[in-house]
Amino acid sequence: MSSNSESQKSTGLHIGVAAPGVKKVDPILVIDSVKKSFGGLTAVDVEHLEIPRGAITALIGPNGAGKTTLFNLLTGFDNPDTGAWSFEGKQLAGISSFKVAKMGQVRTFQLTKALSLLTVLENMKLGAKNQTGEKLLNSLFPFLWRKQDNELEVKAMELLRRFKLDAKKDDFAASLSGGQRKLLEMARALMTDPVLVMLDEPMAGVNPALTQSLLEHVLNLKKEGMTVLFVEHDMHMVRHIADWVVVMAEGKVVAEGAPDTVMKEQAVIDAYLGAHQDTDLGVVTGRIKVISEEGK
Ligand SMILES: Nc1ncnc2c1ncn2[C@@H]1O[C@H](COP(=O)(O)OP(=O)(O)OP(=O)(O)O)[C@@H](O)[C@H]1O
Ligand SMILES: [Mg+2]
Repeated sequence: MSSNSESQKSTGLHIGVAAPGVKKVDPILVIDSVKKSFGGLTAVDVEHLEIPRGAITALIGPNGAGKTTLFNLLTGFDNPDTGAWSFEGKQLAGISSFKVAKMGQVRTFQLTKALSLLTVLENMKLGAKNQTGEKLLNSLFPFLWRKQDNELEVKAMELLRRFKLDAKKDDFAASLSGGQRKLLEMARALMTDPVLVMLDEPMAGVNPALTQSLLEHVLNLKKEGMTVLFVEHDMHMVRHIADWVVVMAEGKVVAEGAPDTVMKEQAVIDAYLGAHQDTDLGVVTGRIKVISEEGK
């Protein structure tokens, strides 16, 4: 397979003109009228949104736009005030986060949720545990549990090797660096063989040495046939790996399109920058250094 990720961009994902709510050729996630308010503040107000299957979609927007809240709603970690959405054609409203994950839609968190006092390997196994029903079964038939545990361990070690965390399997998650925790969270999400992987700022706080490897892991998910939806502030990353970009501002989807075109749209520029319309969007995040144009 070519190592040039640019050449593997998916195109032809939508039908008609790229605009908020545009239909997709093969949507994996379809969202309708999903609203969530906190007190008087409308955090999410998405009329219609479809996420294309088998592609990498970036969800971008300024701080407080509602990206994480939308993730929480779609994965059953919070409930909307109104609205419906389906994953692989199955309605998900009211389904618990645990069931959503079992159905193949997993997410990671903006602030990593690795359990510090468990080892790396224990964190991985927990990612795949079926907590319902099996407890009783396992206490009656301990050999079943041992077999299942062995299988989980083999799978966990395979993933840890892939994410270069195998040497750390017995270390407490607390001892990992921020970047390694992000890797552990991504690895753990894969324990359930997901179809859709939702990553909330997978590169945030990761030191540059690990950024490239995280990026490649995200691209690999797609190569393996998974759909990726990720939140990211760094526009250079977004341009590099996203096939499609959805832009949120003040809870709403304000633009959608291919990365190169969508970032030039007025609504996107307005959402991020207000009056400073000629600044590179990457600068907004504060993560990309501005090379001063002064004196030119
Ligand atoms: N549990 C909550 N209670 C009250 N307000 C909340 C809660 N969660 C989020 N909000 C508010 O909802 C809005 C959307 O927040 P959200 O975290 O979804 O934004 P975001 O796009 O993920 O931002 P960021 O890029 O900073 O992560 C913000 O104004 C936030 O303060
Ligand atoms: Mg967020």
